[in-house]
Amino acid sequence: MNHLDLPALTRAAGTVRLPGSKSISNRMLLLAALAEGTTEIRDLLDSDDTRVMLAALERVGVGVTALGANTWRIDGCAGVFPIKDADLFMGNAGTAIRPLTAALTLSGGNYRLSGVPRMHERPIGDLVDGLLQIGADVRYTGQSGFPPLAIHPANVKLAGPIRLRGDVSSQFLTALLMALPLTGAEAVIEMTTELISKPYVEITLNLMAHFGVEVRRQEWQRFTIPVGQRYRSPGVLHVEGDASAASYFLAAGAIGGGPVRVEGVGRNSIQGDARFADALEAMGARIEWGEQFIEARAPVSGQLKAFDVDLNHIPDAAMTLAVVALFADGRCVLRNIASWRVKETDRIAAMATELRKLGATVEEGADFLAVSPPPALAPGVAIDTYDDHRIAMCFSLAALGGVPVTINDPACVSKTFPDYFDTLAEITAPVIAIDGPSASGKGTVAERVATTLGYHYLDSGSLYRLTALAAIKASVALDNEAGVAALAASLPATFAGGRVLLTDEDVTDAIRSEEVSAGASKVAALPAVRAALLARQRAYRRFPGLVADGRDMGSVVFPAAVAKVFLTASAEARAERRYKQLMAKGMPANMHALLKDLQERDARDAQRTVAPLLHCGDADLVDTTRLDIEAAVVAVMTIVKRQPP
Ligand code: DC
Repeated sequence: MNHLDLPALTRAAGTVRLPGSKSISNRMLLLAALAEGTTEIRDLLDSDDTRVMLAALERVGVGVTALGANTWRIDGCAGVFPIKDADLFMGNAGTAIRPLTAALTLSGGNYRLSGVPRMHERPIGDLVDGLLQIGADVRYTGQSGFPPLAIHPANVKLAGPIRLRGDVSSQFLTALLMALPLTGAEAVIEMTTELISKPYVEITLNLMAHFGVEVRRQEWQRFTIPVGQRYRSPGVLHVEGDASAASYFLAAGAIGGGPVRVEGVGRNSIQGDARFADALEAMGARIEWGEQFIEARAPVSGQLKAFDVDLNHIPDAAMTLAVVALFADGRCVLRNIASWRVKETDRIAAMATELRKLGATVEEGADFLAVSPPPALAPGVAIDTYDDHRIAMCFSLAALGGVPVTINDPACVSKTFPDYFDTLAEITAPVIAIDGPSASGKGTVAERVATTLGYHYLDSGSLYRLTALAAIKASVALDNEAGVAALAASLPATFAGGRVLLTDEDVTDAIRSEEVSAGASKVAALPAVRAALLARQRAYRRFPGLVADGRDMGSVVFPAAVAKVFLTASAEARAERRYKQLMAKGMPANMHALLKDLQERDARDAQRTVAPLLHCGDADLVDTTRLDIEAAVVAVMTIVKRQPP
């Protein structure tokens, strides 16, 4: 089976931009489709579950148009889907099949909804019971109580209150609430049981209000949609970052030191899962809330405290807490999580099985899980993921226990977060930063160290060289800071098989020319250019690790590098190396001129105010004056191995 080997991880720090919230994305898509007018939705999540919703809306005749990365235009159908007969495949997207089922029963057409085999094991009977009470024609075509479903036109009548169970999934209530305004009549829903996962219903009510429909709520017992309301597009809407996805990174910050900041959700989030940060705080983690971010750090003591809490309000983020429990100082109890049993998989059983593999002692009940952490995590465990994105994501955190972990079928994260592992790598993958003066041999040494370790390699100097070349080609003056920075931000560069391409042109040799070298040194002194290249450089941080070569790698770009090395050599030794290189290439060279040139460049580099060449206090010095490349690699590897695993 396809798998991902995560290396042992020791630290997590950095900033993550969250993908859009799944819960908000799919609700907004449906509400925009049902509304009068056109809605532009920005920062929509791009994942399996949102694609399922978009595809279904398109099949029933709703106009959906991509306007750019994660921006969509939805042409609302004012409550009446134009296409009256369709087969709809819902994958395993609960947030799509439930609300669509309700909306389609009120739409006067013939529709068939099905999904993956697991979807056909996930209950939908409470919703169907609710719909049957108002005269909808919806039938089970497989097993009673479960999809697949067939929907036919029917005369829907709202007489008394609709009586609905809320203890299996809150999505049944969400589905009815979103669909009932289509009737135009007053609609009342009365819960016949305790309602679980209430914050998700709050998201529903909040978004319905954005589309002009107010629901009167009496406690969590009775919901009234007043007569004559209809959805109207609010114009442009923006999807918050996914608070459930945020839980993995916040947990990483609490376990792996931090600070880890997630951007896209903040103190005013409408998502219940943002409260996950409170659960971490109760364990001793240090949490900071901003308008548009949440940040987590490990407790001052370094040790997370055990917990015994009711997690009914955050069922998804609670899974993350079950893995954080591996790092607590005692037995942790997660209560009131029965809904886990009917999610993507039976999550209580699956979590128990996988936590045990790591050495935890786990008790499993109908609606709770108790996790006692082992003294040390078992290394090299292979985690099964049950086609459940959240199991894959939350168990990746176990690697922060300093043990390698294998994640089977890692691609299942595409349900809600296709780039999850790359994003995790950007705050956790080990980085070795190597700097040093020109001709110190750092490039060659860094590349060999990367090969030895099986790590990725970033030659940051080549990005400055490429920027200079792109500016020269585009006739942008090298001191035009904004102009050059704009080029740097969208550099069409690719590195493939030892060659460097700019758009489609091979520029491997061109970026080494004297003109470009001098240009690189100029553009590298412009702060806006350095800022423009920052995110691009950080994106090179991937599993299993990265060797990054160049100025400011250890100070600015990867300050949390596990090893920092400053490679140097006497100016004479470097001049001699350069001389030999040029002679070998059959190029004219003058030893004296080379030495003078290097000395001048060192002085200029050391004095410049932006990213000067200097040996930072926290970098290990390797003097290669008397070392050949082989010996220099050995010296660097000794430093790397000295770091904690
Ligand atoms: O390492 P190199 O010679 O390829 O670097 C080209 C230029 O870019 C050189 O003037 C140093 C500068 N540079 C920088 O300022 N910061 C980096 N991270 C890498 C290179």
